[in-house]
Amino acid sequence: MTIEDFEVISAKLAEGGSMVVSIEGGEPLLRHDIVEIVRAFGRYHHPILFTNGWRVTPGLARDLWAAGLSEIGVSIDYATEERHDAHRGKKGTFVAALAALDILRDTAPHGRRQVAMMTVVMHDNVDAFEDLLRLSAEKGVNHQCTLISTTGDGRHDRGQQQPASDTGKRLLDLKHRYPHFVSFTGYLEGVDRFLNGEVRSPCWAGERFLNIDHMGEVSPCIEKLHLSVGNLRRDPWSVVAEKLAALEETKHCTSCYTSCRGFVEEMSGFPRVRSWQEFFGGFASVNRAKQQAGRAS
Ligand SMILES: C[S@@+](CC[C@H](N)C(=O)[O-])C[C@H]1O[C@@H](n2cnc3c(N)ncnc32)[C@H](O)[C@@H]1O
Ligand code: SF4
Repeated sequence: MTIEDFEVISAKLAEGGSMVVSIEGGEPLLRHDIVEIVRAFGRYHHPILFTNGWRVTPGLARDLWAAGLSEIGVSIDYATEERHDAHRGKKGTFVAALAALDILRDTAPHGRRQVAMMTVVMHDNVDAFEDLLRLSAEKGVNHQCTLISTTGDGRHDRGQQQPASDTGKRLLDLKHRYPHFVSFTGYLEGVDRFLNGEVRSPCWAGERFLNIDHMGEVSPCIEKLHLSVGNLRRDPWSVVAEKLAALEETKHCTSCYTSCRGFVEEMSGFPRVRSWQEFFGGFASVNRAKQQAGRAS
């Protein structure tokens, strides 16, 4: 897609409101025009981005923040260089990811809460999660996690599986001890329910969140690419939104419990006071607003 395509999509999405737009991939920083892509979404929305950190430089980091990036996550799933590099299939990726965290933290206009280490929780890294939390604490950045999704159209099995059914309890215990672990308590409480086959319904995919692929095709979530409802390069938002809302397959789907789904569940429906407190306490970049309020008073 061209920058014009991203601008069109951003403007069409804005008809549905100002959204959190998560730029993922693949690896988004492979796009040489990534700063312009962030700017296109930043015009109406809150762009966030997930990266392996390989291509982060101080210049690129500053440009991304200046273009309106709200938050960035650097993926680190294993706490040692050996295991991370083996998982990523390339030597040097662990060191690069840690260096990227330093650069992003030091350039972030609102400080550490704009930068997170992001970990996919799987059967073979739960035991190392506390080591990962120590690593992010040393780096002075936030930490977030998502439960692995092993099904879905866009997934392929590299041998990783769901963790044991008491993983949520272990994560909650760690959250109490590591305040920079900002994943919602409510999300973590749902992890064991999901692993034991009891998922809250409905899923908000298609109603409160959606997936747009690299060609502009829209589906309710990344797991259900087969439910394409149109293309935002050519179709109006009203048509796409109506088709998304009418999807039945998503309404009672319990196939995954990723943090995208969990984040939206915590922020949607009847207001969950604890989640909103955690949102403003850990996620939202309110430092500058606070500083300005402090100066004004
Ligand atoms: C697909 S990656 C792509 C962006 C970038 N290349 C990276 O390495 O982070 C984007 C995010 O998806 C999440 N992710 C990757 N595989 C996943 C899986 N099987 N289940 C759930 N989340 C996954 C990770 O949290 C990662 O931060
Ligand atoms: S639970 Fe929701 S987000 Fe997950 S696969 Fe089903 S519809 Fe998609």
